[in-house]
Amino acid sequence: MTVPAEQAAERCRAFHDVMSRRRTVRDFDPRPVPDGVVEYAIRTAATAPSGAHVQPWRFVVLTDPARKRRLREAAEAEEREFYGRRASEEWLSALAPLGTDEHKPFLETAPAVIVVFEVHKGPHTPRPYYTKESVGIAVGLLLASLHQAGLATLTHTPSPMRFLNDICERPAEERAAYVVPVGYPAPDAHVPDLRRKPLDEVMVRL
Ligand SMILES: Cc1cc2nc3c(=O)[nH]c(=O)nc-3n(C[C@H](O)[C@H](O)[C@H](O)COP(=O)(O)O)c2cc1C
Repeated sequence: MTVPAEQAAERCRAFHDVMSRRRTVRDFDPRPVPDGVVEYAIRTAATAPSGAHVQPWRFVVLTDPARKRRLREAAEAEEREFYGRRASEEWLSALAPLGTDEHKPFLETAPAVIVVFEVHKGPHTPRPYYTKESVGIAVGLLLASLHQAGLATLTHTPSPMRFLNDICERPAEERAAYVVPVGYPAPDAHVPDLRRKPLDEVMVRL
């Protein structure tokens, strides 16, 4: 892609303007995602760089209400354990400003839920390198693509995630890493008032 040098900063600024409006949404409208959007967003995610070009990712798209219900029930069971027993006080207080708890209605109300798996070495899959880094970059592209299509996402990470292999019918060498509900925000969706660090707190120039 060739961009004239005099347009480069302006294009970066315009992309930043779009991306700075992305927010994690936890209340979705049930209206469906327009045709083709999820497919193109996944194509975009799959353009990510990956260690040794192994492309160690799999994206499972759930839209069937019965399957989303199973997902919600299983995730809420894990999250009850997390919030009630496993999470440290320190972790719970870091989460408090976000208002999250063990209830995950968005897993049913979002019209689509994309479960992103890391693909590890298995009978038919090669050993990946830098798997987490590669899949993380792919998910970043996925979120950016869906956002610029006007859709909201939630990056959800129930812990542990083994139960997702069964629900998504994936083999043992695939390990779920992210659950991404996608859709339009509900009319009354509320997002917490968060501050993003300014440039001088995140960039060091030497
Ligand atoms: C790796 C990762 C895991 C996350 N897990 C959860 C989660 O399980 N549940 C949740 O409600 N939000 C989760 N989030 C969303 C963050 O809370 C959110 O990105 C952060 O508060 C900043 O808000 P913003 O995305 O609106 O800028 C996660 C985000 C990341 C990057």
